[in-house]
Amino acid sequence: MNFSKRTTTCGALRASDVGKEVILNGWVHRVRNHGALQFINLRDRYGITQVVLDDDSSEDLKNMGQSLKMEYCIAVTGIVRKRPDSMVNDKMPTGEIEVKAEKIELLSRCATLPFMIDEENSANEDLRLKYRFLDLRCGGMQSRIRLRHEFIKAIREFLYTKDFYEIETPTLIRSTPEGARDFLVPSRKYAGKFYALPQSPQLYKQLLMVSGFDKYFQIARCYRDEDARGDRQLEFTQLDVEMSFVQRDDVLSLMEELFVDVFKKVMNYDLPAHFRRIDYFDAMNTYGTDKPDLRFGLEIKDISEIVKKSGFEAYKTILSEGGCVKAIVAPASHNHTTDAKGKTAELLTRKYIDSISETAKTYGADFVPFIKVSCAPASEGTADSAKYVLSGSGAKYFSGLENELCEALGAGNGDTIFMVSHKVWKKACVSAGAIRSRLGHDMGLIQPGFAFCWIVDFPLFEYNEDEGHWEAAHHMFSMPQAKYIPTLEENPGEVRGDLYDMVCNGYECASGSIRIHDVELQKRIFRICNFSDEEAEKKFGFLLNAFKFGPPPHGGIAPGIDRLVMIMSEQNSIKEAIAFPKNSFAVSPMDDCPNDVDAKQLEELHLIIKEDKK
Ligand code: AMO
Repeated sequence: MNFSKRTTTCGALRASDVGKEVILNGWVHRVRNHGALQFINLRDRYGITQVVLDDDSSEDLKNMGQSLKMEYCIAVTGIVRKRPDSMVNDKMPTGEIEVKAEKIELLSRCATLPFMIDEENSANEDLRLKYRFLDLRCGGMQSRIRLRHEFIKAIREFLYTKDFYEIETPTLIRSTPEGARDFLVPSRKYAGKFYALPQSPQLYKQLLMVSGFDKYFQIARCYRDEDARGDRQLEFTQLDVEMSFVQRDDVLSLMEELFVDVFKKVMNYDLPAHFRRIDYFDAMNTYGTDKPDLRFGLEIKDISEIVKKSGFEAYKTILSEGGCVKAIVAPASHNHTTDAKGKTAELLTRKYIDSISETAKTYGADFVPFIKVSCAPASEGTADSAKYVLSGSGAKYFSGLENELCEALGAGNGDTIFMVSHKVWKKACVSAGAIRSRLGHDMGLIQPGFAFCWIVDFPLFEYNEDEGHWEAAHHMFSMPQAKYIPTLEENPGEVRGDLYDMVCNGYECASGSIRIHDVELQKRIFRICNFSDEEAEKKFGFLLNAFKFGPPPHGGIAPGIDRLVMIMSEQNSIKEAIAFPKNSFAVSPMDDCPNDVDAKQLEELHLIIKEDKK
């Protein structure tokens, strides 16, 4: 097809270009007719330029202009001219100029649009995903895809300067247990046998260390057959990194340097040179989660010792069963909401307090008493009387302990204390964490920006109640901390690993560890995780074999690219950071996948589909 090829883009022209003849190619964003004057906003990936037809334009050109509809693809040849002062648009980078059209060529028409191509698309998600190719034309998606590109480019540039090799690993691999469910690919050549899609390149990157490629990275596609959530997809992308002859701090420092560099380059955002490191147990106790959002304070406190002295029998029973009591203070200073019209109202109404209690209960807390604090009037205050007056469902239990409770929690006049308890420490923590997170959002306590931290020293094992055995908290290749190695089997629950997570704004955005490189130690971990030696040999024989040939000490990490782009672009859904994601039902509405396949394909793959009872 012959057409006038662009000489510039729709985002490039400025006042200094006035007088030039240019050709623009792009899409009709909007058309406005003002009698003899016609304005066409022409859009491409780089921006929008105003094209004008006026009295002087030929009849043919005017007719062409009249026939244009939104999203027609056109070529415009014209002269750049300055806009009249009254029409300069400061909000557009090209707002000082317009292009007086001399020729317009129609490159293709556009069918009736399912939604407007706007900055943000407010259509429902499935419609957006069905027409994702159009949804991607919207301003928000365009800028997020650009951000993602810039992010990956900056990562590559940084790692190249640090002497890392970029190495691809296979995506048709042996199915090995790694935490989630594998996606399987049936083999045509070998009836009844399967490849798996990698959940991550974990074992391959360790094998590359055995091969001597001591600094490896890959922008790797990973596949996990698990339920899609706000920050999860079935297929996603990791920056997969592995290094030999390193210890934990080498990996953490490299990542800090990388993120400082990349955030500056891509977002012009200054991150601190070092991210705070928080012990796993401290994170759970203080923030009620191992992915704390540090953009706000609201720290959780343990009030078990005060409760022991109180009249709170139900809580005392929980304490006697080995549990704990946690408390969190909602500050009076933020006890209000503001609606869209700027009208403020009290936040901590009885209804809201009940809803907080419901939130905590979904995480295991049984009852969630609250206490409203007020300062006792000065006249009532004597040396030994309460400085604070308590009210609310939990107040009566703390009679005589008002001062101690409020002082321990730093609670003052007008503040509200929420309490949670559970005989299982972790459940008490996460219930309190859920309250913290709600209050942080609802009270408007979250500061703008990016708050990174490391969570370190995780337990190596978790007990799987359903299956009745220990399993790896991260994966089975992570190194236990040295002091636990001699007695691993005695109390697996106590063992801490050389494990670390990078967390930002309440999301886990990377995970990694120092790895085991000793066959015997690796076999002990397999045994603790309920793999017999035969089973381990069958499933991981290739790794154990490689470890017989001089494996170096090594460790690594894998930041999730999609999740990070979601965080960087301040979105709540990972789908906003991916060009073609699946919906929450693991379906792609655009190409209707997963889909049926031909009987012939099934036969070639030696597969028979069982009748779906549903
Ligand atoms: P892990 O399973 O913790 O570790 O994953 C590392 C990071 O990948 C991202 N991520 C996901 N992103 C989107 N959708 C998902 N379903 C999903 N699952 C994980 C997260 C997470 O922090 N092999 C190890 C890493 C290592 O030890 O080096 C691994 O894959 O950001």
